[in-house]
Amino acid sequence: MPKRKSRPQKRRRRSIIAFDMVRLDRTATEPLHEQLYRQIRDELKSGRFSDSSSRLPSSRTLAADRGISRSTVRLALSKLHAEGYLRSKSGSGTFVATLLPESFLTANQPKTYEPVQRPVRISDRVRAIPDQRVGSQFDLGATGAGPGVSLVASIPAVDEFPIAVWERLRTQVLAKKGVNLLRYSSNRGDVDLRGAIAAYLCDFRAARCHPDQIVIVAGMQQAMLISAMAVLNPGEVAWIEDPCYQQTRRVLSLAGVKIMPKALDRHGIVIARSRKEQPPRMIYVTPSHQFPLGITMSFQRRTALLDFARAHNAFIFEDDYDAEFRFVGPPLPSLQGIDNAGRVIYAGTVSKILCPSLRLGYIIAPEQLVDSFVKIRSAMDQHSSPVEQATLARFITEGFFLSHIKRMRNLYAERRDFFIKEFNELLGDRFILQVPEAGLNIVAWLKREQDFPMIKHITSEIGVRPSALSYFCIEAKLKPAFLFGFAAWTPTQIRESLLKLASALRKCGKDSNYGCQSR
Ligand SMILES: Cc1ncc(COP(=O)(O)O)c(C=O)c1O
Repeated sequence: MPKRKSRPQKRRRRSIIAFDMVRLDRTATEPLHEQLYRQIRDELKSGRFSDSSSRLPSSRTLAADRGISRSTVRLALSKLHAEGYLRSKSGSGTFVATLLPESFLTANQPKTYEPVQRPVRISDRVRAIPDQRVGSQFDLGATGAGPGVSLVASIPAVDEFPIAVWERLRTQVLAKKGVNLLRYSSNRGDVDLRGAIAAYLCDFRAARCHPDQIVIVAGMQQAMLISAMAVLNPGEVAWIEDPCYQQTRRVLSLAGVKIMPKALDRHGIVIARSRKEQPPRMIYVTPSHQFPLGITMSFQRRTALLDFARAHNAFIFEDDYDAEFRFVGPPLPSLQGIDNAGRVIYAGTVSKILCPSLRLGYIIAPEQLVDSFVKIRSAMDQHSSPVEQATLARFITEGFFLSHIKRMRNLYAERRDFFIKEFNELLGDRFILQVPEAGLNIVAWLKREQDFPMIKHITSEIGVRPSALSYFCIEAKLKPAFLFGFAAWTPTQIRESLLKLASALRKCGKDSNYGCQSR
C-alpha cells in the first residue's frame, strides 16, 4: 500500500525534471515548437512519463519556465495531443496517454528462427519474361544506365522539363480541387485530361476520336499490357517488329502471348504469313519512327497493314512514343486516323515529350474496347495519380505542352546536327551513321564487323553507352551496329563523350594489352 502511494509522486517529480532537460536552441533552423515537441516526445518514448497519472504543467507554467511564448508551447502540445501522446481530462488538465502511439504501431520483434533453405517455386509467367537482370541491376531501370553515363538511347533531356511551371500548376489544381484529388478516382482517367489529350491528338496526330475513347494509363508499357490482356488469350499470337523495343517483348511475355517476330524492310513491318502459321490477334508497330531502326512506315504499308488487320480480325497496336520529334518534313497521319474499321489501338506517352518518371500515357481505344480496357486498369492499379493528371490537363490546356514540344524539337534538332557532324569527324573511320527523319536515337553501322566485340567491351567500360543493335533483335540477323542517343546531352557533353570513345578505340586498336582485342 505505501509503496503504491509513493509512485505517482515519484513520476510527477520526474516529469518536472524532464522538462528541465528541454534545451531549446534559438539559432537553429528547426522552429522552437518543433524542438519542444520532439524533446517532449522523446522523453515520453523513453518511458519516464509512462505512468498515466503524470500530469503536465499548464502551458502558462511551461512557457514561463522555459522562457518561451505560450503559443509555442501550445503548438508543441497540440501536435503531441493530435498524435496521441497526451490526453485531456476536462477540468483536470493534460496527462500523458496511458498507452503511447508507438504501442499501436510497433510490432513485437518475433523470435529469430533458423532460415530454411529450400528452392522457391517461381511461376512460368516470371520465367517467360526475357529479362536476365538480378538484384541491384534493377535499380538502374530498363535503360540499365545510371546518371553520368552518356549517349544512352531513348533518353530525353529531362533537365529541360519546366519544373517551376509544373509545380505552380500543381499547387493551383490542388488549391482548386483540394481533397477531390486525394480520393480514389476515375479508372478511365481525369475527365479534363482526356478532353485535352483527345483534342491534341485530333489536331496534331490526325487522330479521329472523342474524349470517351481516351484511357489514361501509366505509360506505354501499361498501354501494351492492358491492350494485350484485353484482346489476346494466353497462347494467342502477337506480331512484333524485329528488332523491337525490348520492353514490348517483356510485356507481351507477361501477358502470356505467343510472340511472332516479323522482319522489317524500308517501308516498315513485312506483312507475310505462311498458311500454317497461326494468325495474329494483335500486331505491334511503331509507324512514326520504328524503334530501333528509325524507319517511317510508308503510306502504302500503312494501308496494307490496315487491310490485313481487317481481313484477319486482328488489332494493330500503334506505339506512337516519339512522333513529336520529327526533323524532316511533316509527319504522316497516325494509323488510327486512317483506320475506318476500329482495328487500331493507338497509344502515346509523355515519357519523351516531358519526362519518363511521370509514368503517364494515353490510349485511344476502339469504342468497343473502352470498357474492357478500363476493367483491366481497374483490376490492375485503378488509376494514375489524380494530382499529376489534373496538372497535366492544365499544362496542356494552358499551352505549355505545345510550347515545350516546339522548344524541345528545336533543341533536339541542334543536338542531332551537332552529334552527326562530330561523330562523322571523330568516328567516321569506323562507323556509318544512318540518320533517321525523327526521334532521339541514331543507328551507327560498323564499317568492319570484326570491331564489334572490341567496341562493345569499350562502351561497357568508359561510361559512353550506346546499345548494341543485336540487343533488340529476336531472330533478325543484322550487321553489327550501335544505337546512340543524342538528346539528353549538351553539345559539350556530346563532344567529350565522342572524343572519349574515339580515343579509347584508338588506344585499343594500338595496344594489345588493353584487354579488349581478343573479346
Ligand atoms: C518504342 C518505345 N515505346 C515506348 C517507349 C516509352 O514507354 P513508356 O511510356 O512506358 O516510358 C519507349 C522508350 O524508350 C520506346 O522506345
